[in-house]
Amino acid sequence: MNSLFFFFFFFFFSTASTTPIPTTLDGPFKPVTHRLDPTLRQGSDDVPMTDPRLARKVDSIMPEQIALAASYSPSSIWVSWVTGDAQIGANVTALDPTTVASEVWYGEESGKYGFKQRGNSTVYSQLYPFAGLLNYTSGIIHHVRLEGLQPGKRYYYKCGDSSLSAMSKEHSFKTLPSPGHNFPPRIAVVGDLGLTRNSTSTIDHLASNDPSLILMVGDLTYANQYLTTGGKGVPCYSCAFPDAPIRETYQPRWDGWGRFMEPLTSKIPMMVIEGNHEIEPQIGGMTFQSYLTRFAVPSQESNSNSNFYYSFNAGGVHFIMLGAYVDYNRTGAQYSWLKADLHRIDRQVTPWVVASWHSPWYNSYSSHYQEFECMRQEMEELLYQYGVDIVFSGHVHAYERMNRVYNYSLDPCGPVYITVGDGGNIEKIDTEFADDPGKCPSQSDNIPEFGGVCHLNFSTGPAKGKFCWDQQPEWSAFRESSFGHGIIEVVNATYALWTWHRNQDSYKENSRGDEIYIVRQPDLCSKSVQPITSKTGSPRSKEVLHASFLGFIFSSLFQQLF
Ligand SMILES: *[C@@H]1O[C@H](CO)[C@@H](O)[C@H](O)[C@H]1NC(C)=O
Ligand SMILES: *[C@@H]1O[C@H](CO)[C@@H](O)[C@H](O)[C@H]1NC(C)=O
Ligand SMILES: *[C@@H]1O[C@H](CO)[C@@H](O)[C@H](O)[C@H]1NC(C)=O
Ligand SMILES: *[C@@H]1O[C@H](CO)[C@@H](O)[C@H](O)[C@H]1NC(C)=O
Ligand SMILES: *[C@@H]1O[C@H](CO)[C@@H](O)[C@H](O)[C@H]1NC(C)=O
Ligand SMILES: *[C@@H]1O[C@H](CO)[C@@H](O)[C@H](O)[C@H]1NC(C)=O
Ligand SMILES: *[C@@H]1O[C@H](CO)[C@@H](O)[C@H](O)[C@H]1NC(C)=O
Ligand SMILES: *[C@@H]1O[C@H](CO)[C@@H](O)[C@H](O)[C@H]1NC(C)=O
Ligand SMILES: [Fe+2]
Repeated sequence: MNSLFFFFFFFFFSTASTTPIPTTLDGPFKPVTHRLDPTLRQGSDDVPMTDPRLARKVDSIMPEQIALAASYSPSSIWVSWVTGDAQIGANVTALDPTTVASEVWYGEESGKYGFKQRGNSTVYSQLYPFAGLLNYTSGIIHHVRLEGLQPGKRYYYKCGDSSLSAMSKEHSFKTLPSPGHNFPPRIAVVGDLGLTRNSTSTIDHLASNDPSLILMVGDLTYANQYLTTGGKGVPCYSCAFPDAPIRETYQPRWDGWGRFMEPLTSKIPMMVIEGNHEIEPQIGGMTFQSYLTRFAVPSQESNSNSNFYYSFNAGGVHFIMLGAYVDYNRTGAQYSWLKADLHRIDRQVTPWVVASWHSPWYNSYSSHYQEFECMRQEMEELLYQYGVDIVFSGHVHAYERMNRVYNYSLDPCGPVYITVGDGGNIEKIDTEFADDPGKCPSQSDNIPEFGGVCHLNFSTGPAKGKFCWDQQPEWSAFRESSFGHGIIEVVNATYALWTWHRNQDSYKENSRGDEIYIVRQPDLCSKSVQPITSKTGSPRSKEVLHASFLGFIFSSLFQQLF
């Protein structure tokens, strides 16, 4: 114990003059809660379709809603856009996508396009079998994949159909760095964005941080909650329309959102994953049509062949985007793909592995509490065994960063889970915690839109035998009801700085959101990727458990002395 104390005092005196950014090595941290700042309203109204940022700015024949997405490697990138007029109302007629070509002209110098690439185009419709619901059919949605690009280089491009003299104005992008020990300078992470005054605030701040990549962790536009007229349960979403007339979705919202995002997405690749607000059921039991048709994702390039889950590399970071609204069971295609994808990773080339899906596994807010327990029980062990470093989710409309955790136990080799479902959507911010008196959801609340219900009572720790804790759980390091976005700056193969940018902090000095260095410990946690043999046997060595224990004692001591 003497040496521990010595270490503590050394640490204290050597850092007292500055306020160093903590690292995960200082954890696990004593849980901290910041409730909603009472000077802020919980939310704001939707930006109307008449807002200039949502209005169409070019003629019908010209490309609009231009957006980029990364491919598996930096030598390739997706360019997407929309032409033609979407229709909404009775008797809509789908446009013919063969009437307009999908061309991208590009090159390394502004105005000089040495390369041309063609791609494909398509349309989708959103139809409802009730007179009170408006039918919709989209403009023509184009996707072109550029290939043969150099990593870390700026390219200039135009898109459209040259035979119709309908090429866009010039835009440019910088390709991501090559894998290895090169890292994209800043990656923005945002979830549950919607299109309110809070969402525009989030996106303005995100843009001012000049990210090289945007991770959009599901629930994009909330087109299913714009101008909903109610019915049973207002606002109505996924009411699945036996109750018609109810406006289930207002699809022009997607077009408004595409225009609103274009200044950003035409120059920075944005990677999306589906959330529950993308389900959008329609006639014939069809779902996800807008999500699946509008966004190009590297599904073929990453061997998933499903736009619901895929992976890609951004420099030395391997990203895995998982689908929480398609089969995630061990017996299913997604799980097999995930296992193969994890197995293929070479940590010398991509030392960092970041996974992301919409609905969080670890969440201490009342909202969506334990909603995705089934998914956790199916997949957590696999992610842990392959040493996934960070997990980003949304869905809960507030911020929460977990202590390193595995199977609900503090574990120095568990991923750092972070929830950022607070981009600013119309449902407003979540402010209640499952451990607040009277706020523990009943076991029949929080039923997921997909997958089963696996709610469980804790088997160990202070909440043993209970569904909710009566204080902030030990696995929740920091939680705060604020809108904003996060930035991850990977420094090297073991250090990454994570910062939470709250909307209310814009233009204010000395006011910062959560920040922490996420530190990998490959020596401590190296998983030599053993096959999963038993459900009960822990793959951790004694050494790891010992280190974990010491770390916990130390940090408890540290916290108490403050
Ligand atoms: C959301 O935006 C509105 C309008 O700008 C503002 O009054 C409110 O405080 C914001 N809420 C949060 C939590 O930032
Ligand atoms: C929408 O399309 C469906 C399927 O074609 C049709 O049954 C329905 O009547 C249409 N609704 C309107 C308002 O035209
Ligand atoms: C629907 O629109 C098509 C094409 O505009 C037209 O030919 C057809 O008569 C219309 N049908 C109805 C029922 O209005
Ligand atoms: C376009 O579609 C064809 C046929 O479906 C396919 O072979 C090709 O790869 C597609 N091209 C792009 C860029 O998606
Ligand atoms: C996943 O497994 C659970 C439990 O066996 C089952 O209830 C559920 O229906 C399965 N889901 C799918 C999509 O197969
Ligand atoms: C689970 O915990 C709740 C209270 O948190 C309690 O009412 C319930 O009986 C417990 N269920 C089991 C099976 O222990
Ligand atoms: C990684 O960066 C951190 C923070 O700047 C630094 O302390 C550490 O020494 C670096 N590690 C290596 C291997 O360069
Ligand atoms: C997780 O914890 C539960 C409850 O303690 C236990 O039954 C289960 O076997 C554990 N799972 C793994 C993969 O260790
Ligand atoms: Fe959600």
